[in-house]
Parts: sequence; structure tokens; C-alpha cells
Amino acid sequence: MPSDFQRKFSDQLQEGLRALAARRQHRTLTEISGVNLCSNDYLGLSQSAALRDAVVAAVENSSRVGSTGSRLLSGHASTWDDLENEFADFAGTEAALYFGSGYAANIGLLTSLAGRNDIIFSDALNHASLIDGIRLSGAQKHIYPHVDLNALESALRQEHAHRGRKLIVTETVFSMDGDVAPLPEILALADRYGAGVILDEAHATAVHGPGGRGTSANYRDTIIGHDANNGHDANNGHDANNSHDANNNNIVAVVHTCSKALASAGAFICGSAALRGHLINHARSFLFTTALPPYMAAQVSAALHLAQGMDAERAALQQNSRQLNAALRAQGWDTGKSSTQIIPIIVGGNEDALAAADFLQHEGFASRAIRPPTVLEGKARLRFSLTAAIAQTDLSRLAESLRLWRSSQQHPVAVGAAANS
Ligand SMILES: Cc1ncc(COP(=O)(O)O)c(C=O)c1O
Repeated sequence: MPSDFQRKFSDQLQEGLRALAARRQHRTLTEISGVNLCSNDYLGLSQSAALRDAVVAAVENSSRVGSTGSRLLSGHASTWDDLENEFADFAGTEAALYFGSGYAANIGLLTSLAGRNDIIFSDALNHASLIDGIRLSGAQKHIYPHVDLNALESALRQEHAHRGRKLIVTETVFSMDGDVAPLPEILALADRYGAGVILDEAHATAVHGPGGRGTSANYRDTIIGHDANNGHDANNGHDANNSHDANNNNIVAVVHTCSKALASAGAFICGSAALRGHLINHARSFLFTTALPPYMAAQVSAALHLAQGMDAERAALQQNSRQLNAALRAQGWDTGKSSTQIIPIIVGGNEDALAAADFLQHEGFASRAIRPPTVLEGKARLRFSLTAAIAQTDLSRLAESLRLWRSSQQHPVAVGAAANS
């Protein structure tokens, strides 16, 4: 029997949930059924028999399945060092440090690099883990409108004389809009105004950039100390063949997650050896948490190895993304500035987003309505995240289902603001 105190406490929580429901923002947990349009398993690695075998072998060969403590206590093993070196090689940086999740990596990075005497310039659509890291750091902040370089520059100019640290923080492939940050321009501004740059590659890891090394792979030369490979970028929609001056590279950290295209868990913060040492000593989300089980190191390593050979899947993913984006735009849907595997259709109201998701579910497609506070008020959407494994016929069916849904609506549904942009 709950006590009076417990009952009142629960009643308060229920009241809050009812208020969410009234705004159509109440969330519940449901399992996916149908064609999965909300998966981050971009290359289909989560279904890989080779990856499964590697995990089984790692568990069988482990002397222990629990890590028994934080990395600074008993949770360290040489497999973690090996993995971090392997990942640094992949990312093209001097060093890397593994965190238990991308969320923890961003919190640890921002809180250990910035404090109240520092200023962070953050894109308005950055992921919650970056926002929370900035808040927790206590740093002063300028939130610039999404990829608005003029606004970023004017904030940097305003703070030009600031003596503390200045850091520009941005995702590279934006998780809700599927567009790509203009890195050459951001790097040029960072150089002009003496700011460091922190990049979150969560949705680009193993998917974009040469060999899946991230959209920033061409701009990381000064961290590793040799000439940049200014070659071929698999990233659709952004020209990375831009000749960037190696001496003007202010990237101080790049975050890669293992939870999405690498079908594993955790994340790496990649940068200099000094950054790694700093994080080991100051990042609280690294220091005060138990290391993941050692077999996870084998899973990440195997996934990384497999992913590097998946150019065909990267090409299929790009093809799927282009096909769906073109079909939706041809119908007049507002897919924003998406140029990647993440394609939103911005419908505006929460009610419309929920109704569209419901309709698609009946048609055999699992998608999720994304509503505030995840996105701005009035920007509710369906967000499709495609994988290489989705059949093109399913994408054609999806476009047709959306057309049907829209024509079944009594009122006009928001379309087309960016249809031809
Ligand atoms: C841009 C971005 N950064 C960080 C994260 C957090 O990564 P993880 O799921 O590994 O905690 C996510 C995941 O949703 C993300 O989209």
C-alpha cells in the first residue's frame, strides 16, 4: 500500500503527464513493427552475422563479463587502450577516449573544457546532450540560429576581446533536420575570431566522409600533424573538396558515437593526446561511471572493422536518401534542407504529425512523430531515418502512402516551404 505521501507524490506526477497529453506531447514506449523508418542502424550492421559472431566469441573468451569498476579503478583493460588507438587511427586524430554513451561523452567534454569564464557558441538545433553539457558547464553561451553564419560571426565579433576560452559547438549531420553543417565556413570563422571547434559526428560516423570517417575527416590535419586528405567525401550534399588551409584548423575535439551506424554502444572523443589526458582527469562522466563490459570493446572493434568495408552499403544508403527526398519534394512536402539519410517532413502541428505517423503505421511503416520540446514549437514532423537495408520499392510505397494521407485530410497540411530549395 502506498503511503499518503507516496500517493500525493504520484498524483502530482500524473497531473504533469495529463498536461503533456493535453498538448499532444505525451510519450510512451512502443515496439517497432513494419518497415523501420526510425532506426539509426544506417548500414544495417545490427543484423550482421559477422558482428554477432564477434560478440559471441568475445563473451566466450572474456575472463569476466562485468567490468567491475570505473576505468580509473578496476574497469580498465588493455583492450580499451587498443580500441582507442584503433579508433584514433580511423578518425585521423592523435588520440581518442571511449565513453559509455554519446550523451556521456558530450556532457564530459563540455563540462571539462568550459566554465563560467568561457563562452560557447552553439547551433540552435544541437542535440540535447550538447545543450545539457553546455548548461552544466556554467559557460556563457550564444545560441545562434541554425547554421546561420552571419549570426555566428556577429556573436564571435561581439566577444572578440573575451579573454576566456571560446568554443563553437555543432553537430555535423543534424539529427532532426538531416542537413550538414558548413564546416569550411565555420572553421574560417573560428580561425578569424580565435575560437576552438567541437564537432559531434554522431549521425556521420561510419556513414559520411571518406571511408565513413566523418564529414570533418578532411579538416583534421593539425590535430594529427600531417597533410589533410582533401580527397573524396562520400557525404552527399556538401562539398568537402574545399581546399582548407591546414594552419587554420581550430578543431579541438570530434565526437563519434558507436550507438548508431556502428550498432554497438558508447562514443569516442577524438583529438590530441593532451585532450585525452585532460578528459581522463576532468570529465566527470568518464571518471564517475563504471566502464562498459570488456566484450563491448570487441564489439566496437569488430563493427569498426566491418563498417570500413561497407562502401556498397554507404552508396545504397545515399541512393535511398536521394530517392525518398526527391519523391517527397516532388509531392511538395517540406523536407527542410535535408541532404542525408535523415529526412524530416515538417507538418507543423503536433496533431498532424501524430495523425500522419498513425496512418503510416496502418500502411506498414514505423515512423515517429517528433514534437516539441525535441523540435521547436510549430515544427512538429515525421522524421525518417533511412538505412541501407530498406528496399526502394518500400520507399516508393511510403511516398504514395503520404500522398494518400494528405489527400484524406479535411484541412491543408503544411507543405512545400523548402520544396524547391
Ligand atoms: C547528435 C547526437 N549526439 C549525441 C547523441 C547521443 O548518443 P548516444 O545515443 O550514444 O548516447 C545522439 C543520439 O541520439 C545524437 O543524435
